[in-house]
Amino acid sequence: QGYSCLTNHNNHGATKSLGHVTVVIVGGTGDLARKYLWQGFFQLYADQVGKGHTFSFYGGALSTTEKGTPLLFDILKELACPAELSVERCALVKDQFLHLSKYHQLKTTEDYENLSQQIKQQLGQEGIIEAGRLFYLSVPAFAYADIAEKINNTCRPPSEAWLRVVLEKPFGHNLYSAQALDKKLSGQLKEEEMYRIDHYLGKQVVSKILPFRKENKKLLDPIWNKHHIERIEIVLKETLDAKGRIQFYDQYGVIRDVLQNHLTEVMTLMLMNLPANLSNSEEILQNKLNFLASLQHVDNSNAVVGQYQAYNGEVQEELNKTKDYFSLTPTFAGVVIHVDNAQYEGIPIFMTSGKALDERVSYARVLFKSNVFCVQDPNNVQCKSKQIIFYLGHGTLQYPAILLSKNLFKPELVSSGDWKEVTEYKDVNVLGLQLSDYYIQSPVTPREAYCELISHVFFGRKDSFISAEGLLASWEFWTPLLEGLSRVFPRVYPGGVDNGNLLNFQLKGHQVAFSHEALVNVINPGAEDNFQVMQGKYRSSEMVSAWAQELVERLASDLLLAAEEAIREEGQFHLALSGGSSPVALLRALALNLYTFPWRNTHIWQVDERCVPHTESGSNFRSIHDLLLQHIRIPYFNIHPMPVHLTQRLCVEEDGGPTLYEKEIKKHVNGSSFHYILLGVGQDGHTASLFQDTKLENDEENLVILTESPNKPHQRMSLTFTAINRARRVGVLIMGKSKHELVSQLSRIKGESSKYPITKVQPKSGTLIWYIDYDALLG
Ligand code: BG6
Repeated sequence: QGYSCLTNHNNHGATKSLGHVTVVIVGGTGDLARKYLWQGFFQLYADQVGKGHTFSFYGGALSTTEKGTPLLFDILKELACPAELSVERCALVKDQFLHLSKYHQLKTTEDYENLSQQIKQQLGQEGIIEAGRLFYLSVPAFAYADIAEKINNTCRPPSEAWLRVVLEKPFGHNLYSAQALDKKLSGQLKEEEMYRIDHYLGKQVVSKILPFRKENKKLLDPIWNKHHIERIEIVLKETLDAKGRIQFYDQYGVIRDVLQNHLTEVMTLMLMNLPANLSNSEEILQNKLNFLASLQHVDNSNAVVGQYQAYNGEVQEELNKTKDYFSLTPTFAGVVIHVDNAQYEGIPIFMTSGKALDERVSYARVLFKSNVFCVQDPNNVQCKSKQIIFYLGHGTLQYPAILLSKNLFKPELVSSGDWKEVTEYKDVNVLGLQLSDYYIQSPVTPREAYCELISHVFFGRKDSFISAEGLLASWEFWTPLLEGLSRVFPRVYPGGVDNGNLLNFQLKGHQVAFSHEALVNVINPGAEDNFQVMQGKYRSSEMVSAWAQELVERLASDLLLAAEEAIREEGQFHLALSGGSSPVALLRALALNLYTFPWRNTHIWQVDERCVPHTESGSNFRSIHDLLLQHIRIPYFNIHPMPVHLTQRLCVEEDGGPTLYEKEIKKHVNGSSFHYILLGVGQDGHTASLFQDTKLENDEENLVILTESPNKPHQRMSLTFTAINRARRVGVLIMGKSKHELVSQLSRIKGESSKYPITKVQPKSGTLIWYIDYDALLG
């Protein structure tokens, strides 16, 4: 149904009664209601009056009727006239609206019961049938479950009429709390009764992303893929800070506030499969879910975070905290996201948002690759960037629009009635091009997102709202990153134009990092040292310690030095890698050194392997492959997986796997002395696959043996202590709080202990270095 907030009112004659609609804004005297909701409902009324429905409006809040009534009328007095109404007509409609609007205290169950009675009585007296009840919950999320219960128990309309309950984010705080909230609400309300608002879905340009893609499908299809798209940017920059809303904001931060919802919705609309039918909500939802499921996992290495300088003071003040309180809540985030499907793989999607930045603007931009080299004539249309921009508003353009650079193609108008082509160009630059370089289309009349969405609730257009499944899928994507970032110090930025280049970030492989060093990167002045790498002694050997990320970078750079030295001297670098969780971050870091690490001359060996096929996820080789090998250019001949799978069976003595590997080592590695062996240590003190109970009778002679682990999969293949202790360098990497106890115990043991196999690692003529992160060292 083609409802718009500002459609013409030429249908004022009496029509068949379509029944009565009761609107209840719970939290009806609050900020959001004052700014947007009443205006939205007033426009809905202005548009619908005389078209068959009758209305009544209630503003509900905790205050008594005496206190609440004047507050509500202060708000209603200020309502603006819809632009298309004449002054006289508006005065009339507004007067009616004021008469139909009432304050009603909504605190206890009796208050809700009383409201329901009132609605019933009024309709009974007037002999009007009821069409539906719309509750708009403009209250903090913690109150949702309780209010939903009250509505369910006392305010359900008769069965022929609909019930719609509108909810505002935040819908939870992570996957688990969103699931818990969903469970509570779905005990009271049916999914089709819940309208979860994301006001970005009401923005005019956002609501036209799918129609635009559909209208221009023929021309977009060939270029809407990894072969043509260079990058995608989804951006919401704000000049405002969080002052005055710290109570809310400090619990959430920028990722939960806008990335998890608004920006994820925009990304999804841009990249999900186009539904065959744009009015099929189910198909749209399914395509959204498929898209979210195809996103690659993001973690700390895919994000940078910042906090504007004044924020912490605001937190101390608004939350009544002492001067030594420090909040880690980010007010800025930059994240790179990748999609794991054939169409988009490899395209970086930069998603970013921040408070206290230099300008207010939001847009989503698709930048296409250019295959032209302009020797001269840089102003030639072929030399300019090719891009499509969904411009949501503000910034240099100031109005919402869809822009296509003219060297792409001339797009179809997305909606003929209410969108227009813009042909008068202001002299402004939008994302690198002059306006005259774009085909531009824009809505005829700018409309407020809330107004749009209120009309969609009225018409039951569910596809403009967030479904429970969509919500949980988005939280599932964001929650691991949020957990990872909860201990990261955001970079402090001054705010506004003074931020300069401090927040610029750049891609490194599939990861991102700030492009420039921060001069001052200290949120807690007392903890400066925490950012540094510390060197010391541990169990009489050298130890390097730092926070996880710095530690891994340091280890990667030590490995590089070792590789360069070995290659200088012998032409080759033999590196043996362990399995398990410890090396994961290191392998990722190495994968990023695409061009600088001398992979051509590096041989990769395994310290140990589980007796499972290499293709299985439990296989150490599989994880070395997934994290490192597939990302680097290394000759196949230099890769030496342990032969755990021979004659179609796993680790059978007679197949002689260990002997085979030993032969291979002897063949390639000078004196069977690896240049570098990287080890981890298990909670029980095991290293490689050498456990407390591992029998080591022939250990002296053998370099490789089969062993048994107390954990599944039990069977393993492992280098022996003989092989390990022959290495030129052995690095032992220990990370995470869960290893703290072990690190303390080991530090108290002098020399060898049969209980802790790691203590038997004592290179004969090589060096042993411990890499222990602060979590493991300090607990
Ligand atoms: C809200 C966030 O949902 O969106 C705010 O809570 C943010 O922090 C706002 O400022 C941005 O919306 P808009 O419409 O101004 O881009």
